[in-house]
Amino acid sequence: MVNRHGGGASLLDDPELLHRIAAAVRRAVPADQPVSAKMRLGTQDDGLAVACAQALAAGGVGELVVHARTKAQAYRPPAYWARVADIREAVAVPVVANGEIWSLADALRCREVSGCDALMLGRGMVADPGLALDILAYDTGRNQAGRGLSAETLGALLRVFWLRVQERVVPKYRAGRVKQWLNYLRKRYPLAEAAYAELRAENDARLLMARLCEVFPSMQAESMAATA
Ligand SMILES: Cc1cc2nc3c(=O)[nH]c(=O)nc-3n(C[C@H](O)[C@H](O)[C@H](O)COP(=O)(O)O)c2cc1C
Repeated sequence: MVNRHGGGASLLDDPELLHRIAAAVRRAVPADQPVSAKMRLGTQDDGLAVACAQALAAGGVGELVVHARTKAQAYRPPAYWARVADIREAVAVPVVANGEIWSLADALRCREVSGCDALMLGRGMVADPGLALDILAYDTGRNQAGRGLSAETLGALLRVFWLRVQERVVPKYRAGRVKQWLNYLRKRYPLAEAAYAELRAENDARLLMARLCEVFPSMQAESMAATA
């Protein structure tokens, strides 16, 4: 919808328009507040990627996040981190690399290829909510990097997630939302994998949560099952 109306990624066909938008936003926002932008590499191809980044920087954007894929590439691997390096070399503002960072090893390779220290994590953070902590542990020389979250912490996060789902999602879709997250978590966490394998066909949120509370006791079984 956004793209069909000339917004979103389709703006990447028109660097001059990007420049005008960035400049207008920069003028409208108080000088002491930062203005940042996030871009893909292009719509159909990445031919205008550097021009777009330069247009945004010239318009006054103080930091630029680059999702290292075109709109046409959607979310398909790989992400083209080397193109982020081209952009980083072409603009003076800090550049943040984004796309296809699922693990500490990916983060380190992305940094190496893109030349960016700063990273933005998308689905990798959904699949492993401990990923940013892993990277921080690595950066600060602590040796727990790579261990992942404990079952207790994961259970506490699932608990908060379930509370949010109840606030925002109508009952018949609640089990689906929880399973959707389990489907991400299972790539990294064997307990989530086991729970997903057992519960993938369970559409009754109440039963689903009761069983999950057994797998993850820190979800606090009684209160969770009671609210399902
Ligand atoms: C749960 C979720 C919410 C997102 N919300 C936004 C958003 O509000 N604005 C945006 O530009 N991108 C958003 N994205 C896209 C990510 O910022 C990122 O560009 C994209 O997921 C590619 O990175 P990845 O390969 O690490 O997932 C979102 C992604 C996820 C998974």
